Amino acid sequence: MSAPLMEVRELSKVYRPSGLWSRSRVNAVRDLSLTVEPAQIVALVGESGSGKTTAGRMLARLVRPTSGAVDFEGRPAGQHPDPAVQMIFQDVFGSLNPAHPVGHHLRRAIVRSPHSGDVQQTVYDLLGSVGLRPAERFAKKYSHELSGGQRQRVGIARALAPQPRLVIADEPVSMLDMSVRVDILNLLAGLRDQRGVALLYITHDLVSARYLADRITVMFSGYGVESAPATALLDEPLHPYTRLLLASVPGSHTTITGPAASQQAPTSEGCPFAARCPLAMAKCVTGMPPVTTLPGDRWVRCHAVTP
Ligand SMILES: Nc1ncnc2c1ncn2[C@@H]1O[C@H](COP(=O)(O)OP(=O)(O)O)[C@@H](O)[C@H]1O
Ligand SMILES: [Mg+2]
Repeated sequence: MSAPLMEVRELSKVYRPSGLWSRSRVNAVRDLSLTVEPAQIVALVGESGSGKTTAGRMLARLVRPTSGAVDFEGRPAGQHPDPAVQMIFQDVFGSLNPAHPVGHHLRRAIVRSPHSGDVQQTVYDLLGSVGLRPAERFAKKYSHELSGGQRQRVGIARALAPQPRLVIADEPVSMLDMSVRVDILNLLAGLRDQRGVALLYITHDLVSARYLADRITVMFSGYGVESAPATALLDEPLHPYTRLLLASVPGSHTTITGPAASQQAPTSEGCPFAARCPLAMAKCVTGMPPVTTLPGDRWVRCHAVTP
């Protein structure tokens, strides 16, 4: 088997906010391990506050990990962003400077990394490849002249400019109208099919993860709790939290009852899901279960599932 594109081992991030709350610590990501193969689509799924954005930003090297290791293309990742790893953000409105036209944003992204050929032509090619045609017209537009979907297409074009091997997309459709979400998801899937780009798709929405991903890793309160090929995870979810997520899917929204993950006691040594878990046992409260690898290229972190 060829080497993974990205290998993440026991990655953690502890935020130590300054000022008034200086004594509080937030364990945003805890011992997260995951692997992304070349041209694979991996979804990172979890409710708000589970650490998805922090994980994505650490992998894009926008946030420095507290501990853990990341290898990219077989080498330890450096401290600075690598053009081969690009990030797409949820807030398309905030990520494009309104003072400059689309063409300016793309030209800047192109010239900042190794490139060949005519820059203006590359701008047009990128716009065409994300469905913004005629490209000459879109290159002259400002962000306020674009719809949300068109802005996100510009965000994707900008991420493609450095010819990345991995794109990390953090809730890329959650601020968009329902009607354009599937178009953007299809565009992201097309990056893999047409360019061989791998995708780490971050979402709170298991439905879209099912639509897009080859593999799904579920996060809860900073921990990866279960990871499996997408069909296996959906057909036979093992972790009680994954089962809860799935049970709440039939509507278009994945909602979960109970206290939010971020409200769980951050200092607790036990499983943060124990308070909401129908299978919780005494040892769940005293110790977080280790990652248990199972047949079928999957793992789970649960005392009740792997006694
Ligand atoms: N810059 C920060 N400083 C302090 N705490 C943060 C910071 N960013 C995120 N957090 C906290 O880390 C936890 C995980 O947040 P985040 O990674 O944004 O989760 P998600 O993307 O799954 O909603 C939350 O409790 C959040 O409040
Ligand atoms: Mg987030």
